[in-house]
Amino acid sequence: MTSPQASYRLPPGPKEPVALGIDPQTLQTLQELQQQYGDMVSLTQPNGRLAYFINDAAEVQRILARRHAKYRKGPGFERVKMLLGNGLIVSDGDVWRRSRRMIQPAFGRQNIHGLLEVMVACSERRADHWQTLAANNEDCNITAETSDFALELILISIFGPDYESRILTEGDNPFAFLSRDSTRDLSVVMKVRHLRELLTSIIEERRAGKSADQFDFLSMYLQAEDKDGQGFSNKQLLDELMTLIVAGFETSANTLSWVWHLISKHPHVEARLIAEATEHMPDVTTINTDALAAMTYTQQVLEETLRLYPPVWLFTRRCNEMDELENFDVPPGTDIYLSPFVLQRTEHYWPDPDRFDPDRFELSEKPKKDRPFFPFSLGPRRCVGEYFSFMEMKVHLGLLLPKFRMLSTSDKEPDLDLGINLRSAEDIFLQPQER
Ligand code: HEM
Repeated sequence: MTSPQASYRLPPGPKEPVALGIDPQTLQTLQELQQQYGDMVSLTQPNGRLAYFINDAAEVQRILARRHAKYRKGPGFERVKMLLGNGLIVSDGDVWRRSRRMIQPAFGRQNIHGLLEVMVACSERRADHWQTLAANNEDCNITAETSDFALELILISIFGPDYESRILTEGDNPFAFLSRDSTRDLSVVMKVRHLRELLTSIIEERRAGKSADQFDFLSMYLQAEDKDGQGFSNKQLLDELMTLIVAGFETSANTLSWVWHLISKHPHVEARLIAEATEHMPDVTTINTDALAAMTYTQQVLEETLRLYPPVWLFTRRCNEMDELENFDVPPGTDIYLSPFVLQRTEHYWPDPDRFDPDRFELSEKPKKDRPFFPFSLGPRRCVGEYFSFMEMKVHLGLLLPKFRMLSTSDKEPDLDLGINLRSAEDIFLQPQER
């Protein structure tokens, strides 16, 4: 009997079933598949479902952008549903479209510029702490520091003054556990429940008008309306706030942690970054959006870091309806695996791919279509927080790097922890010295 797949044009691939998932083993499997079969691979998963691993720049673009309506989110998202409900990252179809339209205006540049002061204040708090560490000759856990920075920033950006009055008053920051990826253990279930109760009470107070008019994401989300004039329900708002917190802090935190690690190993990059920061923002009063836009080398360093260490290292999709790629068919139900990590380190797109070289992102370099780069995804589901994240990372680096030299404490390259987010397997420690 011929298999139902026999009539489709499938790319080459192994005969035996192959297990893929958002886990460390999968990276090795994908790299081996690429080596053996090339940039388009088909395989059967242990549950019998057909899957494609696609490492071809044009086809990735086609699936994420032009043909995105034929795909929805794929395997692996079940694990985050407990945290994020049906928020923007996990929702699909009409639910996603409505939420995205309601939320998008909050991320307009003018609004994000309104958060610059918070970004500066959060960076200055790190400077105070690093000064103490340097004075006491103590190492700095840069993984924890960047995590604290990005978490505090996103929480103040969402809750404004309620961060101090309603969240810090809880004792230990009730959101801190989110940076650990153990979403199935029972204590986490309890913590999530507590968090949702806390957020519901903050939302209800805001709806009752108990706090003055203020500028933060929660206010903007409360004012958002769909095309029928309906706002978010409390449940929807809760899912969207949890999504914003989870999506908005770990990604930037991990990127910053890798940037500090890379800078500590590349003194010539460090020197150029300091020169640029000193030229465009010589002191706190000169930090503004024009200065940040002029920091093009800092932008290149961040992009090169995101090429090597894309926080979302693997995307999954499931095909909804028959699709045709350049030379192959995608039958409905096919799972798709796309990896910015693998693609952005593929030699024929990025020569000498493992080398850290921010000059690759100079504007005069080759046109971008020859160099696949999609750490924020592509198309309509592209990250809404991209502008926010570049701004926060530039403020953080521009303010801290001219003040502190961060010396590497180890010659060993950190191992990778490939969960939903790409992190270093162990925390990275650097030794701060005041300049
Ligand atoms: C370096 C920083 C960041 C990276 C690399 C990043 C990456 C991504 C990626 C790859 C996606 C799409 C995932 C997929 O389609 O499967 C995404 C979606 C999203 N991101 Fe980010 N992100 C970053 C920072 C942020 C920040 C700071 C925020 C919020 C302030 C944010 C909010 C979101 C949201 C809400 C979505 C869902 C969009 C949708 O599905 O319509 N992200 N991000």
